[in-house]
Order: sequence, then structure tokens, then C-alpha cells
Amino acid sequence: MPDTQTPPPMKQLPVRYDGLAKVTGKATYAAEFTEPFDHKNMVYAWIVQSTIPSGTIASIDQKEAERAAGVVHILTPFNAPQLPVGAPQPPAKRSLTVLQNKDVYYNGQPIAVVVADTLDHARYAASLLKIRYTPKPAKLDFKGGIPTARLPKSNGKAAPNDHRGDINAGLAKSAVLLDETYITPVQNHNPMEPHATLAWWDGDNLNVYDATQYITGDKMTLARILNIPLDNVRVRCPYTGGGFGCKGSTWSHVILAAMAAKIVQKPVKLVLDRTQMFGPVGARPSTVNHIRIGADATGKILAIKHDAVMNTSVMEDFIENSTGTSRMLYSSETNFTTEKMVELNWGVGTFMRAPGESTGTATLEIAMDELAGKLHMDPVQLRILNYAERDPRNDKPFSSKHLKDCYTQAAERFGWNKRPAQPGTITEGNDLIGYGMATATYPANRSACQAVVRVYPNGHAYVGCGSQELGTGTYTIMAQSAAAGLGIDPSLVEVKLGDSTLPKAPVSGGSQSAASYGPAIEDAAKQVKLKLIQLAVNDKQSPLYKPAGTDLHTQDIDCKDGKLFLKSDPSKSETFAALLTRNGNKPVQAMGSAEPGEDKSSMTTQSFGAVFAEVAVDKDTHMPRVRRIVATYDIGTLLNKETGLNQLVGGIVWGVGFALHEQTMIDPVYGRTANENLAEYHVPVNADIGSIDVTVLNVPDYKFNPMGARGIGEIGITGSAAAVANAIYNATGKRVRDYPITPDKIMMA
Ligand code: MOS
Repeated sequence: MPDTQTPPPMKQLPVRYDGLAKVTGKATYAAEFTEPFDHKNMVYAWIVQSTIPSGTIASIDQKEAERAAGVVHILTPFNAPQLPVGAPQPPAKRSLTVLQNKDVYYNGQPIAVVVADTLDHARYAASLLKIRYTPKPAKLDFKGGIPTARLPKSNGKAAPNDHRGDINAGLAKSAVLLDETYITPVQNHNPMEPHATLAWWDGDNLNVYDATQYITGDKMTLARILNIPLDNVRVRCPYTGGGFGCKGSTWSHVILAAMAAKIVQKPVKLVLDRTQMFGPVGARPSTVNHIRIGADATGKILAIKHDAVMNTSVMEDFIENSTGTSRMLYSSETNFTTEKMVELNWGVGTFMRAPGESTGTATLEIAMDELAGKLHMDPVQLRILNYAERDPRNDKPFSSKHLKDCYTQAAERFGWNKRPAQPGTITEGNDLIGYGMATATYPANRSACQAVVRVYPNGHAYVGCGSQELGTGTYTIMAQSAAAGLGIDPSLVEVKLGDSTLPKAPVSGGSQSAASYGPAIEDAAKQVKLKLIQLAVNDKQSPLYKPAGTDLHTQDIDCKDGKLFLKSDPSKSETFAALLTRNGNKPVQAMGSAEPGEDKSSMTTQSFGAVFAEVAVDKDTHMPRVRRIVATYDIGTLLNKETGLNQLVGGIVWGVGFALHEQTMIDPVYGRTANENLAEYHVPVNADIGSIDVTVLNVPDYKFNPMGARGIGEIGITGSAAAVANAIYNATGKRVRDYPITPDKIMMA
């Protein structure tokens, strides 16, 4: 199928499936459940965290804490049950700290759990614990460790060292060379809903409500670490209040809640408070990126060398793959990238929205802007000149790539032709005005997924799939997908997700959910349709009845508006409801499945976009303000305007935060996050965001999946930080290569 046609319209729900439940407070999140367990007996757990970055726990005196009001149990490394924790394993390969030893690996590590009748009692009793440590020297100096950084112990999603061609020859013959270092800070996820686990045991069976991006991952990890059969674990999560990657792994607190519930034989609620979101549940590592790009005098890139160093924990390696983008975004004869780690007594790194691509584009795309400046070229022209028609890493074709259209359409809407080539030339009152742009990119992923679809005798339908709703639109898109497959109105579809008893779905990460469950739902709906058609052709009372031996094939019949009809004579039709009522008055259902095929092996499936930013920088205070962002994305079919564009806009807002605000500051002596709250860890607020104008090309990518839709959860954050950074340079002539770009850095540049 050519990939230039517009997608067939999928009937959209007029509002989010879960919109009413959310705005009326009826949507229940993990910590809010009061059933189906003994709610009267529920107790509260509080995680106690280490206050040193390295050493061992010498003793914990809990006598006073035990005497405090309401205390039910205190779980420490001195009394915790021994578990077969073992080495980190899939799904998420996390090293857990679940009180199995007395070692302290970072400041903020869970080292005890206090369970009490109220949250306040638990928290107060926790303050009475007398914890003595035997400290060890801590490794806390990231920048100081850079000269001796080591290769990763475990590989993430990319080879730590990767090269094509002779990089030194490529650099040597370049007429123009860009050679700079770009830094991104540690960042912490702060979804509105913090991590929360509610656990209770029913005999040998463990039930959990958890704020998660991956109920199946929770289930596997809980079963493995608690050493119980998989079938004895049920995990539910009908709503997740934002995830962004931190809820993609099962962290220690989930296991600790289940352990505590087993010991006290009561339902246990464990919620992390905002400060506890900094440390024990992962962070985006800081990256230092030495980037060299060589080009000939016309701007043709001959060499891209990107050497990154990032922090990692002493517990496990996590790779923030910031060089990945440099390997594939532009055509270059030669390419060489390395990733090295500095091991520190900080909490572990983890996936944070567009892990790799966000830091990768934030840095490479400033380098490209600087190279354009050296060449006296327009930044868009430089990118088009070095456009990669095929994947430079392996020379495979892209399933569908229309990035050039993104550049031209967004540039046009933005008014890029008004950008002054000379920085610092436009002023408005006391503001310097600047324009910047960058490329956005994120891979299109999908994984094996199953879903069940059912049609009821009243003509309504049901779709069930063990996926998750992170606020992204899973309910809505599941309803639409089932409706499209069955030929009924999406408002007639009931959706169930977020329960590990439902058919298995992958982690809601890597922007893969809709692209994974969509085809599985389509497969299930197709089977249900076939069953309905077979019922009709075998039913003497149906207008579609065909006696055996006559010449009618199931493909002669189709479904639309809740009816079966003969394609050659649509007047011959009947409703699903009429057919099913006559035929036993029972629902018809089927289990569907889908998994990647050709799309995973013979081509590269990748989304792209172009982001343009206008900023104003106050001449005196150097305060940068983003006035407007214009972006166009090539993400395949847009399945739903509301939920889809909303994700792109959300990603862009985060890109602005990446550019101007966000950074986790870790104390150099104690290794504790110094700004572990939302007053000092800055994120953009409404006043920080000007207008955001987002469009998509809406060109379906049918080589990727039957819906032609690539995921859109992450691409919005890519490119947007660099677009802002480049606009600040264009406004001021000052180049800041160290995120976030705060007024002091602009002043000193
Ligand atoms: Mo996303 S960082 O892949 O949950």
C-alpha cells in the first residue's frame, strides 16, 4: 500500500472514554481503593530511607518506635523474611533493596518500613527509629569521575561503542569542524500521582493495586521475589496518574508493601510522598556529551563523533542512550559513538520520557545549530542537505519517513523566513527575540499483545486487554479500535484494562501501547465479525441466510453501524442485536493477538518531527521566555485528535522544562537530593508556556502495523529543548551548552 494516502477515518469518541470519571472524581487510583478487601483493617506503611550514601547499617533500635501509638509492625533488615531476590532479571532488570542485607548504596534508599493504623502514626514512629551506620567512603563526584569512566557492565538498548567508516579520516578531511561538549542534568519524574501500592493477601494469593505502567511486569516481579506461583498474584491498576517511565519498573516499595501485608495479615497501603519520588524510584542520568561534527565546505557531513559519559549507580548500570540519535538522524560517511559510565552512590538511573532520544536530540541538535552557524547556512537547509533517506546505521529503508514535509510545513507556519541570520538583532522593548529549530525523533515500537472482544445480544460490545491507562488515552483508543473492527459506534464499547487477569499486554513504555493493542483488538474483532457472519448465513430467519451449497462467502458480508449487510445488496441486512437475540441470546467473543513481524527485521520504524521556537530574553535579567512553539510530526495515522495532540503538546511542555527549568541537585557531601520537592525542582507552569501549535502529517505507516499508527507518547519531548536553546542563541548570541539554560548561564556565556 502506498504510504501517501490519508488514513481511513476511524470514528472517534467525541470525548475521552474516561473523561467524565476523571473530572467527577470517580476514577479510582491505586491508593484510593476501599474494596474488595477488608478496608476497616487496612494499615499504612511508611518507607524509612537511609541518610548516608554509602556504608552498612550497624543497628536499628526500634524500642521507642514500637511503643508509639498505633504501630503494628516495623520491618528492618534485621527481621525481614529472607527472599530469593537474586540478580536483576527481566522484565525491567532492577536491583531491588528489600531489606535483604544491611548495605547502603545511596542516600534515600529504603532501609525499613513502619506499619501503623494511620499514616501519621507510621510516619511519627519512623522518626523514632535510632539507626546507626558504619559509613564507607562514598563516590559522589560525577564530573571528577569522568576521566576514569568505564564501559557499561550490561548493555541497554544499544551497543556502547558503535562505528561506521574511518572516523579519524572523516574528521581529518572536514573543512569545517564543530567540537563542543553539551551537558544534561539528572532529572526526576514527577507524575501527579506518586508511586502507590495497596496490597493484601487472601490466603496464599496476593492482590495488589499499584500505580504502574506495567501490571504484568509487577506480577512477574512480585511472584519471583516473593517466591510464589505467578497465578497467585493479581495486579490491578485501572488508572495511572502519569508514568513517564518511572512506573515502568517494579521498585522496592511494591515488594515491601506485599511483604508487610503478609506479616501483618492486613491490607497495607504504601504511598511515596513527593520527596520520596527523588531517589528510590529512578532518575534520568546526567549526560556529558562531547560531540564533533565535520562537514565539507558545502555543509555535507563527513563525520559525527559523539562520546557520552553518564552517571550510574553502584547497584546496576542504566544507560541513558544519548548517542543513539547521533548514529541515525543524519547521513554521514563516518560515525563513531561511545557511552561510558561513572559509578556513584546515587539512586539508580531509569527510563524517563524518550530515554536517550530526549538527551540525544537536546545535545546533537544544538551541535547542528552551531555547525550551521559555522557554515553560514540556514539550520533547516543544513538538515535537509544531510537528510537520511535510509537508516544510516544499517542501510535499511524506513517503513515511512516524511521528515522533509515536517520541516517545510512547520517552517512555513512558524514564519521561519523571518529569522535573522545574525543573532541578537531583533529587539522588542527590553527583550531580545530569537528563533530556533530542531529535529524530533523517536522509534516506533510494538510488542506482542492479546485482547478479547465480545458482542452482546443488545448490540453493545466489550474489549478487554491488560494494558494500562497513564492519562494517555488507552481507554479511548481501545474503544475506538474495537468499534472500528466491529463496525459499531465507539460509544457502545465497554473497555476493561489494568487487571492482570485480562489478556496480556506489554509495558506502557516506549510509546508502544496503541501500536501493540490496536492490532490485537483488530484481530479479535475480525474473528467476532466472522462468527457473527457465520451465525447469520446459517440462520434461516436471517435476511443473510444462505442454504448450504449455495454460493455465498463470508467475505460477501460486512458490518457497519452495528449491522451485518450483504455487500452487493446492502438492503439485505440485520442488526447484531437481532441476530444474537434469535441465536441463544448469548454474547459472541474471541481472543485476538498480534506481534511485530517484518516491521521489526527488514526496516526501521521511526517517527520524526520538526520543532520551531520563538523566545524572548530580557536584556537586563537574562530571563528567557518561550513565546511560541510550532511543530509538525510524522507519526503515521493520528488515531484521535484529542488524546494524540494532547500527548505531543505535553511532550513539548516537558521539552521547555528540559531547556529552562529541570535539574536534580545532588548534595556533593551527603549524596542526598537537595531539591527533593516541587518548590525547588522547577517544572514549567502555565505562565512559562506560550502558544503551542502542533500538527501531524497523518500519513499512515501500514508497513508498521495495520492501523498505520506509530506511538506518540515520547516524541514531543525530543527536539523541543534544543529548539528553545537555539532560539536563545539566536536572540542573544550567547551559546549555553549546559541544561537547564537559566538566566545566570546566559549572563555568563
Ligand atoms: Mo517511557 S520513558 O518508555 O515509559
